[in-house]
This record gives sequence, C-alpha cells and structure tokens, in this order.
Amino acid sequence: MKLFLDSAILSEIEYVYSMGICDGITMNPSLVKKAVDKLKEKGEHVSLEGYIKKALKIAKGTPVSLEVTARDTAGMIVQGKRLFKKFNPTARNVYIKVPVNTSFPEEKGKEFDGILAIKELRKAKIPVNCTLVFTPEQALLAAKAGANFVSPFAGRIDDLLRKENKMKFDKSDYFPIEGLSKGKHLDDNGIVSGVDLIAQTAEIFRIHGIKSEVLAASLRNARQVRECALAGADIATMGFETFKEMATHKLTMDGMVKFTEDSPKEYDDLV
Ligand code: E4P
Repeated sequence: MKLFLDSAILSEIEYVYSMGICDGITMNPSLVKKAVDKLKEKGEHVSLEGYIKKALKIAKGTPVSLEVTARDTAGMIVQGKRLFKKFNPTARNVYIKVPVNTSFPEEKGKEFDGILAIKELRKAKIPVNCTLVFTPEQALLAAKAGANFVSPFAGRIDDLLRKENKMKFDKSDYFPIEGLSKGKHLDDNGIVSGVDLIAQTAEIFRIHGIKSEVLAASLRNARQVRECALAGADIATMGFETFKEMATHKLTMDGMVKFTEDSPKEYDDLV
C-alpha cells in the first residue's frame, strides 16, 4: 500500500521523502492555510507559488494533489486546468483534487457539478483525485466519471458517529472498525465506521474490477492505517504525527533502554 503525507508543510514533506517512506502528497485549502500561517508566524515572506513548486520538486515521481476552490463545474474546470498548467511542468506530478459534490447544506441543483468537472478534466488528460467522499455510492460515481483516485474520508465519519452519540473524543482517538455497540445513531446509512467506509468502497471496486484507486483519507492514527491496509485501500494519506505513531511502540523504547544499558564497553568499542 502506498503512504501519502497529508500536509502542505515543506519541512514535513522534506523529512518523509528523505526517509523514502512517502509515495505522494495530498493538500487541501485548510492544509495550505496551516502552512501559510506557519510561515507568517515565523515572519517569512515566501510566494505560495514558489512554495508549492518546492513541494512538487521534492515529491518528483510521486503524485501531489492540489485542490480547486470553485463550486460550479465551469469554475472547477478553469481552476483545475490553470493549476495543472502552472504547476505540472515543475515535476509532472500534479493531480487535481475535485470535491465529489460541491453543494452547501440544503442547497439543490449542484449535485453533479463535481462529477461533471471530473469528467471534463479527465477528458483533458488531467489526473484527478476526487475528494470529500463519504459513501461508496459517491465513490462509484467518481470512478465512473474517470477519477484516478477516489478519497473516502474515514476520520470524519468516525467524528460524525461520535458526535451523534454525544461522545467526548479527540480526533486522533481510535474508533472501532465494527462501530459502536451502544447509542442511538450506530451508523451513517449503513456505514458503521470510517474504516468500514474504506472497506465497503474497496470491496465494491474489487468486485466490479474498477480501476480507480481507493485513497483512504482523513486518517488520524496508526491503527486506522493498518485497518485500511487490511481492508484493501490502495493508498493511505495521513498527517506527519500519524507517520511518527506508525514508527512507535512502547516495547521498542523499553527494548532500546535495556540494550543501551546492557551493551558492554568492549562491544561499544567495536561498533
Ligand atoms: C485528504 O485528502 C484530506 O486532505 C484529509 O485527509 C482530510 O483530513 P481531516 O479530516 O483530518 O481534515
């Protein structure tokens, strides 16, 4: 399974690529804002264009998703093409991220703007990552429209189920793959957990031989990454903290203390 970094922070991007553990990057407007705010805090004045180009160069040979912000088909196509034209020549690794449905709550008539934009961008041979996917049905539509990656958001489904059950939680807390056994709202239209969303989507794609890759997104802990790998996700995208958690176990640390203590001077002199 491929591991992507969900971040626009250059130092994090550089670090995971230097270790050879990262296969791509996903960015969204909130992550770009976080990176820009961080730069402003440090009093650094860099152009965002140059900053993104640096990220693209570091990630050369692996996909980098850049998201559109328009909500109508025409606007998304214009932005997608503009982003691709401006940034793809840098390292030829740009994917355009398009929301599956750009409607605001209760808004009618925009249900297919994202799907249409995907179709048109693919027609123009621009690779697409379809984002903000919360049901296998949305994933299926995105795949039919030609999206290369389809990104179901696991963590946000877990947030929804915990909120509906008035549970206190931290976003990085593990949520059981089999869902909750108590509470009033046990599922979201048949989806019992974020990983269940990934599992159902991957299974549908497998059964029907759908070529789009399942990009498990909104992952906030290491166990969720493991479960998505077992569920058949092609890609998992996560923040830097989750990469760190993947490398960590208390017994590894205890083992290090013991080996460090025990190592005789004669051996230390040899190594
Ligand atoms: C993926 O492409 C998204 O940028 C991301 O995974 C969203 O994660 P969040 O729900 O933790 O914001």
